[in-house]
Amino acid sequence: MSETAAQVGVAAEAVAARFEELYGAAPEGVWAAPGRVNLIGEHTDYNDGFVMPFALPHATVAAVSRRTDGVLRLHSGDVGGAPVELSLDDLAPESDRNWTAYPAGVVWALREAGHAVTGADVHLTSTVPTGAGLSSSAALEVVIALALNDLYDLNLKGWQLARLCQRAENVYVGAPTGIMDQTASACCQEGHALFLDTRDLSQKQIPFDLAAEGMRLLVVDTQVKHSHSEGEYGKRRAGCEKGAALLGVDALRDIAYDDLEAALARLGDEEEVRRLVRHVVTEDQRVEKTVALLESGETRAIGPVLSEGHASLRDDFRISCPELDLVVDTALSSGALGARMTGGGFGGSAIVLVEAEDEAAVTKAVEEAFAAADFTAPRVFTAVPSAGARRVR
Ligand code: GLA
Repeated sequence: MSETAAQVGVAAEAVAARFEELYGAAPEGVWAAPGRVNLIGEHTDYNDGFVMPFALPHATVAAVSRRTDGVLRLHSGDVGGAPVELSLDDLAPESDRNWTAYPAGVVWALREAGHAVTGADVHLTSTVPTGAGLSSSAALEVVIALALNDLYDLNLKGWQLARLCQRAENVYVGAPTGIMDQTASACCQEGHALFLDTRDLSQKQIPFDLAAEGMRLLVVDTQVKHSHSEGEYGKRRAGCEKGAALLGVDALRDIAYDDLEAALARLGDEEEVRRLVRHVVTEDQRVEKTVALLESGETRAIGPVLSEGHASLRDDFRISCPELDLVVDTALSSGALGARMTGGGFGGSAIVLVEAEDEAAVTKAVEEAFAAADFTAPRVFTAVPSAGARRVR
């Protein structure tokens, strides 16, 4: 058993014990769903494009039992207080601004899709940092979806659970996100990155064991909180959809890289749309390039591709921030192979690819740069591709 699996095992015992204290009986089971980092393929998922996330060891762990009386009781060890009690018949989109909207939204989406879910008791806790661009929301949604899938014998596959969770987030919570995070949490495998085509959700697991090749991938959480429901993400999405409409395609994924210059010319003086289109089309190409390099064993060569991705998000998509740029610039000037922001942007985390022997020096350089700039100290950890959602007890 890996260290991570052992840690989740320990958490599962504690979560089950707390469930029993709260609800007076042992849970029917315990499930875990991880957060993710995205290696490459940013803001491509709602353009039907390619992404390449992998699961983190950080996970949401939930103890769950069924109920038959139309009641949903939700308790988070991280929030405390008494369990929140909801009636399934009262669940309604955008009616809840608290953490409970995510699990309640999943129950709502399952029932909307015709699945006979009659209630549940839930106690959970999470080690996925919130607001850090590491998909704590998706982990919370997917753990509930998987638990109910198992308990109610729904026989839904990982990608189907991901779709339902995305619907919960888009309609119930009201955040216009794509499908990447939920699919990553539901479908990733230990030791692999997930090459996902977001148009049809076809998947390929790409072996990604940096430690074996003498490298590390650092995650640097800038501690700048982002929020997707707050306008900017939606504006980018709307701009991309406008670009697709102006170019007469279903989604920007349909613009081939070789046709990019012609497409940009056709957009005339729509300068903002041109920038968004250029990012999405080049980013899809960077994902394909990354997959090709990894499959041919040229892992170190993905570094510059990651860094190009950051420049595109900063200059064309315009969703970086001074803290993210400082991580990337400092990491690259202190010897990193590549670096980029990861996730939705406007804060959150960056990833840094380094030779193992440079890990300490690059980390120190980033920490010192943050101190010199008077920014809040970043949280830095090494990301190891971990297991996707699963039953743990
Ligand atoms: C957030 C969204 C995803 C995706 C990324 C950007 O994480 O939840 O769907 O759009 O931003 O790549």
